[in-house]
Amino acid sequence: MAEFHDLKVEDIYKETSDTSVVTFNIPEELKQEFSFRQGQHLTLKADIDGEDVRRSYSLCSGPNDGKWQVAVKEIPGGKFSTFINQSVTVGDIMEVMAPSGHFGIEVNPEASKNYLFFAAGSGITPILSMIKAHLSVEPNSTCKLFYVNKTAKSIIFKEVLEQLRNTYFGRLEIYYFLTKERRDIELFNGRFDDEKMEILTKTFIDIPDTNDVFLCGPEQMINFVSDYLVNAGLPKELIHYELFVTGLSEEDIKRAERLSKQNLEGTEVVIVDGGKEFLFTMTKEYNNILDAALGAGADLPFACKGGVCSTCKCEVKEGQVEMMINYALDDKEVSQNLVLSCQAVPTTDKVVVDFDV
Ligand code: FES
Repeated sequence: MAEFHDLKVEDIYKETSDTSVVTFNIPEELKQEFSFRQGQHLTLKADIDGEDVRRSYSLCSGPNDGKWQVAVKEIPGGKFSTFINQSVTVGDIMEVMAPSGHFGIEVNPEASKNYLFFAAGSGITPILSMIKAHLSVEPNSTCKLFYVNKTAKSIIFKEVLEQLRNTYFGRLEIYYFLTKERRDIELFNGRFDDEKMEILTKTFIDIPDTNDVFLCGPEQMINFVSDYLVNAGLPKELIHYELFVTGLSEEDIKRAERLSKQNLEGTEVVIVDGGKEFLFTMTKEYNNILDAALGAGADLPFACKGGVCSTCKCEVKEGQVEMMINYALDDKEVSQNLVLSCQAVPTTDKVVVDFDV
């Protein structure tokens, strides 16, 4: 089972007025376990006012940088992000889980690809790691970044991006879009819309020559840009995305409501974890396997409890479950009977789920 490790905060600095970049010191013996692929995230855990709070943050350092860095933007009212931005200092010990997640593709020194990246706000964090990885390992590949922020001052990693543009001269193009400040060139004012996408796909983006597209930001942006690119002729399988701020579709809301009302009292659940079995019967206070198992005393991995991070995933070995929300598992994983236990509602009287996956 994935476990938390105590790691020292080696450095913390403000990248913008509301975003801190935290660097963790990884001891020699954990370096192997903490090796990562660009696009993966770390799950952090802290006791905040007596509450066990966990959040996942994408690594913004590149896999070859020899650094483990995450950028955390303070969200008003956000417990964990406020804690990081206001309370954490150099030398603090934090509990951190080894990198996980499957956003990002293999890098290949022989590749000669053209990548497109679309990011909004703190959605830049996994994208920055990807740009670094592809540019440093694939000398014949190029990257184009389309990056939306509110104001010039709020652009996270502007300096780092500019340095990369200089270092990899001619292989990284960056286009900044601002939503709360106006600039002379109308194209760069505001969010992506039909008009902008039309200009971008005519002038800056060569669809037949594009190999992979990565998007990270709010769901609305991801859906809009992906649909536009697919309609413009880009094969859907070349589009990879990670939602940063989730919004629910009508269908999600209806399904989640229907499932959350189900009375699961009496459902038998067997958890397999670390090769051992843990059996319990669900009571009516719980509407998902993870919460019911934690309530019954099991020690299972989880982070977001929102269907986003996949830390809580398990395999259904017997019986059936339905997920309320699933932003983390792709179709292939779902067809392999993988589910997010924090979203899993049993639909048979007995289920057996295996966390050793
Ligand atoms: S805890 Fe994040 S998807 Fe379940």
